[in-house]
Amino acid sequence: MTERKIEDKIKALLTQIDDDEQRAHYTRLISTLLEKGYFPGLAEVPVVKSAVSHIDGEKGLLTYRGYPVEELAEHCSFEEVIYLVLQGDLPLEVELLELREQMLAEKDIPLDVAESIVRFNPNLHPMNMLSAAVLLLEGDDKESCVVNNHWANLNRAIGLIAKFPTIVGTFLTKDPHFAKGKQFETFSEYALYCLNPQQAKLPEMVRMFDQSLTLHVDHTMNNSTFSARAVGSSEAGIYALISSAINSLSGPLHGGANERVVKTLESIGGPDNVMNAVENSLEHHQKIMGVGHRIYKTYDPRARFFKQHIIPKIFIEDQLSDRPELWRLYATAVKLEAVVTEKLGKKKLYPNVDFWSGLFYRALGITPDYFTTIFAIARVAGWCAHWLEQREGDGKIYRPYQLYVGFDTRHIVR
Ligand code: COA
Repeated sequence: MTERKIEDKIKALLTQIDDDEQRAHYTRLISTLLEKGYFPGLAEVPVVKSAVSHIDGEKGLLTYRGYPVEELAEHCSFEEVIYLVLQGDLPLEVELLELREQMLAEKDIPLDVAESIVRFNPNLHPMNMLSAAVLLLEGDDKESCVVNNHWANLNRAIGLIAKFPTIVGTFLTKDPHFAKGKQFETFSEYALYCLNPQQAKLPEMVRMFDQSLTLHVDHTMNNSTFSARAVGSSEAGIYALISSAINSLSGPLHGGANERVVKTLESIGGPDNVMNAVENSLEHHQKIMGVGHRIYKTYDPRARFFKQHIIPKIFIEDQLSDRPELWRLYATAVKLEAVVTEKLGKKKLYPNVDFWSGLFYRALGITPDYFTTIFAIARVAGWCAHWLEQREGDGKIYRPYQLYVGFDTRHIVR
């Protein structure tokens, strides 16, 4: 077929697509391929069919299994949301109680793993520690290489989600028996206890922490979920694929942004310095952390929830008179948001979830190096949901294509 005929055929096929959005999407994909020969960053390339979550980037809508994330954060607990993404629907009361009981019963990690964590170099970044510790769990679970039994996969996933906070708490406290035998009402209370036991005594803080976990559970085919699926597609076990996903999440362009946002706010020093700092960054083509998103062309709904329902309950000036540094951080963030919106709004770049979450974690007295582990404590549920879905899917190993731009074949001459 000549090029002209192919072009006509493509146009004819595109006009057969009724859905305007889908037609526009395919047209963009074909244009990118014709123009560049490949898809930089895999942008807009559909790689799976998934029913776990959905984003409408124009409307600023995120749903898990059809439910808007704000409604889930407002009306449900993190445990209910874990059940929802893993099982496809919200639990009945009895199912919720069973899940809670199972998670709290399976929170402890084997002693050999706990002792290794305690001996890790204390300078190890908590995300690298988490990735290494998850891999170590395989040593006590040799059956995990069998990946074709749905119920075994589901129970293994729940057990692993339950262990994430314990791994973090063990590294923080250097206690191999961390939290053993301690009782907790909910999984969020336990997760917060692992990061800051004092805050876990305050029900309103636990509730907001629970909501923040819900906001992070899943986010379609993001970088770490793609990593989890890529590794899972080779039929590697759960520990291998989750460990890889943690590494992906740690990067500053992904989950690692929350840690960088607070460090940036600290280095800016106060609201009066914001304009100069932003102009300086843009002049040097440096990205502003916590801003922008591949899919959202409007305000990130998770960021909006933080901004409207969590941040205002904590950042009240009279109540923070004994924590002036925290108030300054908040005032700097407010100014940064205004300047960024003014300067980058025309490019449809707005604060994302990491912009506000870091401030909340800081208010909880958590050090920035640990912020992304909180993201992981929530997102592991999404990764597991995708893995379960993948195990029921087409079973095709991920093996995309490259455009080779290296040497033609050459030979050793001696
Ligand atoms: N600050 C300043 N400019 C930004 C920006 C930011 N945070 N994010 C994107 N841009 C600009 C780019 O410079 C580029 O401008 P140009 O077209 O004039 O060259 C344009 O917006 C597109 O950026 P690009 O990096 O190609 O978008 P992407 O879809 O590949 O990347 C992110 C999306 C999230 C990786 C990107 O916005 C980013 O790096 N943000 C900061 C890190 C962050 O907060 N990550 C957490 C995401 S939840």
